Amino acid sequence: MDNSNIVKRTKDYVEKTLSGEGSGHDWWHILRVWNIAKTISKKEKADLFVVELAALLHDIADWKFNDGDEMAGARVSRKWLESLNVDQEVIDHVCNIIATSSFKGAGVKSEMKTIEGKIVQDADRLDAIGAIGIGRTFAYGGHKDREMYNPNIKPQLHDTAEKYKNNNSPTLNHFYEKLLLLKDLMNTKTAKQMAKKRHTYMEEFLKQFLAEWDGKI
Ligand code: NI
Repeated sequence: MDNSNIVKRTKDYVEKTLSGEGSGHDWWHILRVWNIAKTISKKEKADLFVVELAALLHDIADWKFNDGDEMAGARVSRKWLESLNVDQEVIDHVCNIIATSSFKGAGVKSEMKTIEGKIVQDADRLDAIGAIGIGRTFAYGGHKDREMYNPNIKPQLHDTAEKYKNNNSPTLNHFYEKLLLLKDLMNTKTAKQMAKKRHTYMEEFLKQFLAEWDGKI
């Protein structure tokens, strides 16, 4: 099977598996990350095949939905890619990216070693900010039965993956605990550029939200 066929088969598999998922990690998130990753890859020198497979599979079994099992995604992906007879070296690279890519709290580092990994991580983080990021954050908060905002509960920066996973603070806090931090965590020059506009848009949203909350405008 040639590479474009493998990408196509993987796209169909992921689309089938994640369609209709309502918490913000659905097929459309994957499609956007895949597109962003391709956009970044045009500017950065990378193995597009690895980038595309990792982008498509990066949330196939996200730990947030697998009782905290962080290796589930890599395991499911390996099985899938082996069924398509993909080169072992490519499988190892893709699965390594998937295992490392999740955000686990403000003080917890998840560093990508290869340019392909950096691109996929950037693409995933870009889709968490801006207008799309705002929409996804509220969708996820609703899914988790969280309050939209509660002025009595202050945001906190989680220094361990454990604390980040178990936090149940209002949705608006998530902007301060994660989303506003992402701009400075971008790996590639291209993603840093793309993050700027999305970041400013979120800042404006928060300003407006809090002004409306206080009945000032
Ligand atoms: Ni994702």
